[in-house]
Amino acid sequence: MKRLKKLPALVDSHAHLDFKHFDRDRNDMLRRAEAHGIKLIINVGVNPATSRESILLSEKHPMIYAAVGIHPHYAARAPEGYIETLKEMARHPKVVALGEMGLDYYRDRSPRWQQWDVFSQQLQLAKEINKPIIIHSRAAHAETGALLREEGIPAAGGVMHCFSGDLELAEQMMELGLYISIAGPVTYPRSKDLKKVAASIPADRILVETDAPYLPPAPWRGKRNEPAYTTYTVEEIATLRGIAAEDLGRICLDNARRLFSLA
Ligand code: NI
Repeated sequence: MKRLKKLPALVDSHAHLDFKHFDRDRNDMLRRAEAHGIKLIINVGVNPATSRESILLSEKHPMIYAAVGIHPHYAARAPEGYIETLKEMARHPKVVALGEMGLDYYRDRSPRWQQWDVFSQQLQLAKEINKPIIIHSRAAHAETGALLREEGIPAAGGVMHCFSGDLELAEQMMELGLYISIAGPVTYPRSKDLKKVAASIPADRILVETDAPYLPPAPWRGKRNEPAYTTYTVEEIATLRGIAAEDLGRICLDNARRLFSLA
C-alpha cells in the first residue's frame, strides 16, 4: 500500500465487495479505501442474491450505495418474476441504479437471445422508474449499441462500465447520453485504445472504477483488486490527461454524484 498516494476525494463507481473474496478482511479493506480518499462506492449486483447483498452492505456503510440487476452471465438463470423483484429492491433509499445489465458475447455463459431479453427487460424497468443503468458490454459493442439506440436509455442516464472499446465507440455511447467508466486495464502497457479514450473523453463524462475483486491495476495483476487501488488508476488517467490526480479524483466523484443523484 505504501506506493499508493492518498488523494482527497475519489469514487469507485463499480465494485463487488459482497463477493467471498472479501470475507476475510472486508472491514479492513473498507478502511484502506477510506484512508486513500474513497468517498463513494457503488456496489453492483449481478443476480438477485448479490443485489440483496449489495443493499445489505449499503445499509452498513454510509459511503456504499447499491445497484441491483442481472448480469448477462446470469441471464439464463434469471428467476421468474425477477423484474418485480428488482423493482421492489429499487425502492430502497440506497439503491441508486439498475445493473449490471448487458451483453457478454465473449464468455457466452447464457444463450444470446436470453442475454438480449434480460437486458431489454431491465432497460424497460429502468426507463419506467427512471434510474440510471450500469451496462456491461464485452465483445458485443455493436449489439449493445443497437439495443440502446432502438429502445432508448432512461432520462436518468447511465454508464458503460469497465469500458473496453475505442474512441469511436466511446463517442457513440456518449452521444446516447452515457458516461464512460475506466477501470484498471488502462494501466496495462498494451491498452493503447483505452489510454486514448481515457486521455480524450470530456471531463463531464468520465468515471473511474475498480470492478473489484477483478481487473487490478498493473502492479497487482493476478491479485485481488480493491477500492484503494483506484488511486493508482486515477494517477495513470490524470497523467494521460495532463492534469493533477487530485483534480481528476474530484471530477470523477462529482460526475458519479451527478449520475447517481447524490449531489
Ligand atoms: Ni462488475
